[in-house]
Parts: sequence; structure tokens; C-alpha cells
Amino acid sequence: MSDQASQKQWGGRFTEPTHELMERINASIFFDRRLYAQDIRASQAHAAMLARQGILSLDDTVAIIQGLDKVREEIEAGQMEWRVSLEDIHTHVEVRLKELIGEAAGRLHTARSRNDQVATDLRLWVMQACRDLDRALMEFQRALVDLGQAHASAIMPGYTHLQRAQPVLFAHHLLAYVEMAWRDRERLADCYRRTAVLPLGAAALAGTTHPIDPFAVAQDLGFSGGACGNSLDAVSDRDFAAELLFILALCQVHLSRLAEELVLWSSNEFGFIRLSDAFTTGSSIMPQKKNPDAAELIRGKTGRVLGDLVALLTVLKGLPLAYNKDLQEDKEPVFDAVETVLDCLRVLAPMLAGASVREEAMAQAVKQGFLNATELADYLAAKGVPFRSAHEIAGRAVRLAEQSGRALEELTLEEYKSLSSVIEQDVFPVLEAEHAIDRRRSPGGTAGENVRAALNLARKRLWPESE
Ligand code: ARG
Repeated sequence: MSDQASQKQWGGRFTEPTHELMERINASIFFDRRLYAQDIRASQAHAAMLARQGILSLDDTVAIIQGLDKVREEIEAGQMEWRVSLEDIHTHVEVRLKELIGEAAGRLHTARSRNDQVATDLRLWVMQACRDLDRALMEFQRALVDLGQAHASAIMPGYTHLQRAQPVLFAHHLLAYVEMAWRDRERLADCYRRTAVLPLGAAALAGTTHPIDPFAVAQDLGFSGGACGNSLDAVSDRDFAAELLFILALCQVHLSRLAEELVLWSSNEFGFIRLSDAFTTGSSIMPQKKNPDAAELIRGKTGRVLGDLVALLTVLKGLPLAYNKDLQEDKEPVFDAVETVLDCLRVLAPMLAGASVREEAMAQAVKQGFLNATELADYLAAKGVPFRSAHEIAGRAVRLAEQSGRALEELTLEEYKSLSSVIEQDVFPVLEAEHAIDRRRSPGGTAGENVRAALNLARKRLWPESE
């Protein structure tokens, strides 16, 4: 047997070396080495359990646990030599452990397989990712609330079909994204709950003959949901990863909508905000340009996150039970999506904090486009005109104003009287944007009172220690 083959964990029945190209396609080390800390931590918990169960001697256990600490230190110091021939992180850790402590290293793999091992490592990694993502989402929410509070009375056009529709408070608009982020965070918490179930103990697929205690390992490693109920499912289930990817896909879709608005708002056409130099770039040919690249990239990166979800679902589709090597393809989409969404959230928070809001430009936009036409119709309806006719009259008022290049509030009372005799002087205050906003007091509506309460509530939830 070649030297190389002897280092493999499965070399026993093989006489010929692995083809170089097979080694390359088979190796996951260049991406799964990110699991080193989880792999080592889980191995230590496994060894401790084996010792408590009388399966491993105390001496061997101490040597294994301390040896694994050393392997971790070496990896963190950049001293580990990564080798394609050693396939994956599990083999690297074990081979290095053997070099450090000898024979005893081989006993660590008692009552386990790489199948339940890798499922455990990935679950641990996803659990940490859920925590990191939750934190980043919270920081993002804080940035939105801070910006909303800094411009608590700023009025902007609310849009439907990207046409100016009705005035809303800028803070109300930002709070819509805070809501989305709450839902993303709830979904993450839910995903975490289902991920925190330990597969270790399922061994290759059927369970093990050794008297193990997976519940103790679960507790040791923080798997609050205990141990998996079926060994075949334990080694082949990647629902937790697919769930995470869906959550991230949806979260990134949310971010892409905000990113798109930042692109629009920072354009000359809108001019609602100015992004700081820190998150924009210039053009090599057009000196006047200030491009919202960060926002565009957040919008653009949505493609890869959605792709990650589809990639994983496609890997899982049609897989017979239990473990199949296809499952090795689960990691890169997970790593990529988590990294991408974390980056985007972390960029958005300071980008929002550094943006300057041009309240005046927003207020100006509210004045153009007849955003108060609904107010006029509502005013007529309140005076007893059936809403359908009120809508018609308000429409004619818009036409009259448009033809003479004026706003609705600039028509005279006589002109209004010619449209409907019920219209009086009291129509004018009704046509003011502030009035339109303040009257929208329905739950979740944009009235200042509502928005202030929503901002305060969000502040309480997002900065609990300041209570
Ligand atoms: N690198 C493998 C993976 O990511 C580890 C499990 C290998 N198991 C096996 N039976 N070859 O899935």
C-alpha cells in the first residue's frame, strides 16, 4: 500500500492509489476546513462521553482531549498543512491527532462515523450562524430606527406602482424594513430550534452497538433539542441547512428591496438622500459621478443567495437514504449565503447611519403629483357624496389643476365650487400633507402618533438594556 493510501481512514481494502483527479473532486478540505472548531469541539464531547460510559480509558481520553486542543491551536496559528489526499477536515484533524498522541487517536472514532460527525459539525456551524445573523439583523434594525428617529417628522411620497400615491412619514417607510427583519429573526430562531438536535450517535446510518449516551453529548454541545430520533434521518437530513438558506434568501430579497430604494433615492431624479463617500464610488471617466455601488451590490448579491438555496435543494432532491456523497455539496452554498447576507447586513447598518436625508427634497416631491387627491375624495365622502362620485369629482379637480400647472391646494374656492357645491373653505387644511398623515391613525397607519409609538416600541425591543 502506498504511503498516501495508508493515511486514508479507509485504506484497508485498497491496493491501488487514488487517481489524482478523483482526489481533487473528492476533497472538501478547501471549504470544510471552516468547520475545524466545530469538529474539534464535537470530538472532545464525544471522547468525554465515551470515557463516562466506560468505553474509553481515562488516559486515552485525556490524551485525546488535550491533543485536540493542540490541533486547534496549530490550525489557528496557520500551521496545519492542508492536503488534498486527506479529503476533509475530519481526516485532517484525526491524522494530526495521531501524529501528536499516537495510537489512542484511533479510539476517538469508536461509535461514530464521518456521516454523523459531519452532520453534527454542520449543525453546530449553522447554530452559530443563526446567532451571528440575528445579531447583524438587530444592528440593521437599530440603524433603521436611529435614522427614522433622527428624521421623525420628515414626510415623503409613499408609492404604489412607483407612482407617487399618498404622503407617508419617512420613519414609517423605514419601519416597514424593521418589521421584515423581525420576521427574519423569528424564522432564524425557529430554524435554530430544529437545528439544535444532535445527529452524533447515528454512526454510519444504523446506530451503534456501543453503549453511548447521545443525550449527554447533546447537552454538552448545546443541542437543546436533544438527540435525533432516527439514525437514517440523522445522517441524511439537511432540512436545517435548506431552512437556513430559505430564510437567507428571503432576508436578502428584503435587503435587495431596500438597496433598490437607496439606489433610487440617491439618484438626481429623486434626490431624497445622499450616501456617504464611504459607500459609493466614482467613475473613471465621468467626474461628476457618485455611484451607489454598495447598494447595487447588495441588490446584485441576491442572485447568488437565491442560487445557493436552489443548489442545495437540488442536491437533496431524489437522494435515497441514508448518507450519499452528494451531501458533501451542502456546505459551500451554506457558507456562501451566510457570508453574503452577513456582509450585506453589516454594510447596510453604517451605510444608513452615514446617509444624509434631504427632508426638503422629499417635502417638495410630496407637493408634486397630487398626493392629496385621496384627501379631497375622502373630504367629499365625509360630506355625504357617495365615494364613487367623490372619486370622480376629485379626478376632475386633478385634471383642472394639471391643465393649469397647479397643485390641488392652489385651486380657488370658486373653482372647487364649480366642481361640487359641498366644497367649502375647510377643504384647504384637508389638502395639507401633514393633515393627510395625521388622519391615518388606523393601526399600523402612518399617523405621527402611530409612528412615534412604533419607534419607541422598536427602541425598547432593540435596546433592552437601556430600560
Ligand atoms: N466530507 C464528507 C462530507 O462532507 C464527510 C462525510 C464522508 N462520509 C463518507 N461516508 N465518505 O459529507
